[in-house]
Amino acid sequence: MSCLNGTDCREGAKRRTALAILALMLAIFLILSVWSFLPSRKQTIPSAVSYGEADAVQGKRVFQAYNCMGCHTIVGNGAYLGPDLTRIYAEAGPAWLAAFLPSAGGWPTQAAVQAQLQNAVVQKEAGATDAQGYLRHYPGAAERIQQRGGQHTLMPNLPLQASEIAGLIAFLKYTSAMDTEGWPPKPREGRRLPAIALAGQAAVQGPASTSGAHEQAAAPAEANSSPVALGRKLVGDLGCVACHASDQKRLVGPGWGGLAGSKVELADGSTVTADDAYLVESIRRPDARIVAGYPPGVMPPYDTLINESDMKAIVAYLRSL
Ligand code: HEC
Ligand code: HEC
Repeated sequence: MSCLNGTDCREGAKRRTALAILALMLAIFLILSVWSFLPSRKQTIPSAVSYGEADAVQGKRVFQAYNCMGCHTIVGNGAYLGPDLTRIYAEAGPAWLAAFLPSAGGWPTQAAVQAQLQNAVVQKEAGATDAQGYLRHYPGAAERIQQRGGQHTLMPNLPLQASEIAGLIAFLKYTSAMDTEGWPPKPREGRRLPAIALAGQAAVQGPASTSGAHEQAAAPAEANSSPVALGRKLVGDLGCVACHASDQKRLVGPGWGGLAGSKVELADGSTVTADDAYLVESIRRPDARIVAGYPPGVMPPYDTLINESDMKAIVAYLRSL
């Protein structure tokens, strides 16, 4: 068969088919390219994520300033001494983080999380007002409290201010919201908390502090017998000992040893005698008077969490030190 000018018609048809296939391939290539970029348009950006007054950009600076990445990985970068933090906000939530970050060497208890929920910002961000609702919403917090609550942690005591803590939580909220394509991968056997912390607990805790298990075993009988023993149990249950030592050692807050009856220097330059009224006020409304050399806004207000008789027991315990 021959066409005009004697050219082979089949030749022309073949060329057209080849060009059509090429055009189709080009179209598919362009569509796939655009399509693969579309999801990244929805990627969260740090300046759009905030927590209370703080935004994630500010928090990233705090994260860098304290060199958290010297011990932790985040979105695949960093070191392996501490656990990966990419999804910690989604797992454990703001109230747990607010209780954990300022604590010196203690894993938050349920009462410590409850104390953080007294804060309006935490409450709003968490979407829960009571610990039960919160723990249902953040199973990672429930898991940590159950496995670790009240025990010693290997995380160092960092001198974080309240605003820095809010910034860090904003930053961790941002990394939780990021599309990391499944990073970090889920451990195949489920998350198991490292045994090293428990070994550390026995080694690090001196004779001044009783281990959680020991305290729980001894407490019920003892607690009925004396207010001091009840007070000692309460400060453990309420998470106070994550920030306070029973001797004069400075942790996140001042040591309690010898505090009752002593003269305390306040941040405003004045001095006050640590009588019962001062101790009660320091616990119910910690920001009413700030101890010199310590940041305000770190200790949660325990006003609604401690009734009169428990408060008497705590004060009796503080006086016994
Ligand atoms: C010197 C090392 C070190 C530095 C610096 C450090 N951490 Fe940690 N952190 C640890 C270790 C170790 C643990 C685990 C503690 C344990 O298992 O008892 C931990 C635990 C944590 C946890 C709990 C993780 C979980 O899955 O339960 C959070 C949250 C955390 N760190 C946040 C931070 C932030 C934020 C910073 C920076 C402001 C920081 N860390 C700096 C060592 C460090
Ligand atoms: C998140 C850490 C944290 C927790 C938890 C915490 N505190 Fe404090 N506490 C501090 C800091 C920081 C200060 C010093 C700043 C101030 O005066 O508020 C302080 C101050 C105090 C003071 C005054 C100390 C002095 O030298 O005058 C007392 C008393 C006290 N806390 C008792 C408690 C009791 C009791 C609990 C538990 C019911 C508790 N704290 C829980 C951090 C904490």
